[in-house]
This record gives sequence, C-alpha cells and structure tokens, in this order.
Amino acid sequence: MQNVRISPSLLAVDFTCLREQLHSVASADLLHVDIMDGHFVPNISFGPVIAEAAARTSSLPLDIHLMVSNPDAFIARFAQLQPSYLTIHYEASMHLHRSLSSIREHAIKVGVSLNPHTPVEWLEPILDFIDLILIMSVNPGFGGQEFIPQSIEKVRRAREMVGNRPIAIEVDGGVSLDNARSLAEAGASILVAGSAIFQAASPAQYIAGLRQTLSS
Ligand code: DX5
Ligand code: ZN
Repeated sequence: MQNVRISPSLLAVDFTCLREQLHSVASADLLHVDIMDGHFVPNISFGPVIAEAAARTSSLPLDIHLMVSNPDAFIARFAQLQPSYLTIHYEASMHLHRSLSSIREHAIKVGVSLNPHTPVEWLEPILDFIDLILIMSVNPGFGGQEFIPQSIEKVRRAREMVGNRPIAIEVDGGVSLDNARSLAEAGASILVAGSAIFQAASPAQYIAGLRQTLSS
C-alpha cells in the first residue's frame, strides 16, 4: 500500500470560525476546495474570494475541484491561487485535452474528475496529460452523502490502468474510517473527507485515526 495523502474538504467547515477550523486540520496534506456553480451540480458553494481567504488562513497546499459547466472560464482565476492541483470534470469539458493544456500552462498539476457513471477507461487516451484522477464516490453537489461502494472497484481499475505513471488517484465523497483502508488497498493515493473530519469531536484526532488505519 502506498503513501496516502489526506485532503479535508473546506465545504464541511463551520464558516463562522474558519481560522479555528482550518487550524484543526493543519496535520493534513492538502486542503480540498469544492467550487460548485449551481449548473453542473444542483448546488452553489463558494467562489474565488472564499477560496482565497482559506488559502491565506491555511498553510496546506490547495486541491481545487471545479464542479462547473464551463471550466475553461475559471481556470485562470483559480490558477492565481497557485493550487497544487486544479481538477475539472470529464463530463463538463467539450475539449478536454485543450482545457488540461491550459491548466498546465500555469505550471499547476492537472486533475480530471469522473462522476460515478463515467468509466475510468475513458481517460485512457489522455493519461499522459494528467497528474490526478478524481473518482467521485457520491454524485457531486453535496457533502454528507452515502459512499457508493462500487467506487472501490473503480479505484482498482484506475490503479491498474495508470500502471507506472506518476498519477495520483483521489477519492471524494462519503470517505471515512469505515472505507479508507479498502480504498487505499484498491490503489487510492489521496482521500478527501469533509463531514467525517469536521463533524468529529477532534478533527486532528480523526486525521490521526485515518493515518493509523492506513498504515496498520
Ligand atoms: C461533493 C464534494 C466533496 C464533499 C465531500 O460534491 O466534491 O468534496 O465536500 O464531502 P463528504 O466527505 O462529507 O462526503
Ligand atoms: Zn470535491
């Protein structure tokens, strides 16, 4: 099992105390930032202003997940935040290779996300152009949903397809202590968790628990 990074989702924080909430997850590896436009997904989250405030408040590298219908219109704006990863949805991009190239022009790692119904095999032609595959294990749009168990098999297939390429495999939606180990064993290398971490009595202890289950 490889080293697995943990990416708490900003969507699940109590925004009335953003600083304390972000401080409580300082031991994580990345900060997952969900941008929803009310069109690609049936919900609106927050935009670049809040993402920028989070970036200033946390020292974690950003892992930005764009759930928007027109990702090309927002790549430059979010690239200004210098995230580690900028991920767009396969289903939202008409000219995926062009969109991925424009992310790369900003010297940012390139991610592609797949909705639960989209086969991982559809990424095969562009594997040489991506740094991360984000497998949605819920239908995107809301935190706190139930994990779709078939996602574990999807992770396994993605890991097999990726082979020796240095491509991270991230899982997002309903991730918790209940499924983290199975996901890592299947080949996940980044786990996003929103409600599981921020609804825990101690987010820091929850992250420590995840690390323990991933290393034992
Ligand atoms: C869902 C988002 C997720 C969400 C995960 O559309 O992409 O990142 O914040 O939240 P939990 O971990 O609560 O399912
Ligand atoms: Zn997300």
